[in-house]
Amino acid sequence: QENPLIFDAPMFLHRSHIPSQFIWPDHEKPRLNPPELHVPLVDLGGFLAGDPTSSARAAELVGQACLKHGFFLVANHGVDARLVADAHRYMDDFFEKPLEEKQRAQRKLGEHCGYASSFIGRFSSKLPWKETLSFEYSAERGSSHIVEDYFCNTLGQDSAHLGKVYQDYCSAMCTLSIGIMELLAMSLGIPRTHFKEFFEENESIMRLNYYPPCQKPDQTLGTGPHCDPTSLTILHQDNTGGLQVFVDEEWHSIRPNFNSFVVNIGDTFMALSNGRYKSCLHRAVVNSKCPRKSLAFFLCPKKDKVVCPPLELVDSNNPRIYPDFTWPTLLEFTQKHYRADMNTLQTFS
Ligand code: SIN
Ligand code: FE2
Repeated sequence: QENPLIFDAPMFLHRSHIPSQFIWPDHEKPRLNPPELHVPLVDLGGFLAGDPTSSARAAELVGQACLKHGFFLVANHGVDARLVADAHRYMDDFFEKPLEEKQRAQRKLGEHCGYASSFIGRFSSKLPWKETLSFEYSAERGSSHIVEDYFCNTLGQDSAHLGKVYQDYCSAMCTLSIGIMELLAMSLGIPRTHFKEFFEENESIMRLNYYPPCQKPDQTLGTGPHCDPTSLTILHQDNTGGLQVFVDEEWHSIRPNFNSFVVNIGDTFMALSNGRYKSCLHRAVVNSKCPRKSLAFFLCPKKDKVVCPPLELVDSNNPRIYPDFTWPTLLEFTQKHYRADMNTLQTFS
């Protein structure tokens, strides 16, 4: 077995030689200027104000997108623009810290939370060109300070201001996701509050993605192809662009829009909709000019809740596709049987 590697990311920024572990096989090499994916921009203003006509219109757009690929944008979402800007700014504060400091939050093998970087430690083929910081958010303990405590306990009191911003950001994402769950229920023709019991006490995950510039963006990937195993992802990408989705046998880009969030269906929601709504393969590409940042909030169902579609979505023409499961079981299965070419839920039984 080879020795673990240490790649000092900044050292590679201006080099044309990229270690082979970052070079993806030909069939997975990115296409840097793919066609754009047409995703609806759903205006949530009327829905949030309780207007029935605009709520129905929003639900219709959401439903159309979810039947096709599961990706849509939301605007007038009620999240404070300053909070979003701060959440981006504080990512620079964290990722520009010296490696030793970031490693105080080092993610341990088999864990979901902490700092991870492909530039250190792991020796395998096909490394993603990125650094991440992930942490848990608990709505059950909504009044507590789980994110703030995480930042203070792992990175020290100096990082308390980061903890505060990400605590508030997660809380805003949680509120937004509960609204989107209502629109999803309306679009499926089931009672508006149907999904509330699965998600009001969610223990969700937040991930900060930092993609340094790369001199070989046509041979590397920031995040490899995958489907989100979670229920709903709310992503905020900066203006750089790089998110791609595999639809109709082709990779498509999603154009950045700083005033909106990209929402996508994950595997658990695909199962809750009895396969009607799609959880699609997606990935992130890098570029040679500037770092790219994205903030991902992954809504997860309550751990002991049995994931099972409502009776309204099951009949003789639409039999059950997936077995009953709980979120931790699916997560474990996905980690063991990850497939870069398809949704692992298809092999879950
Ligand atoms: C992801 O899907 O995990 C990352 C997407 C992005 O950074 O745009
Ligand atoms: Fe993803």
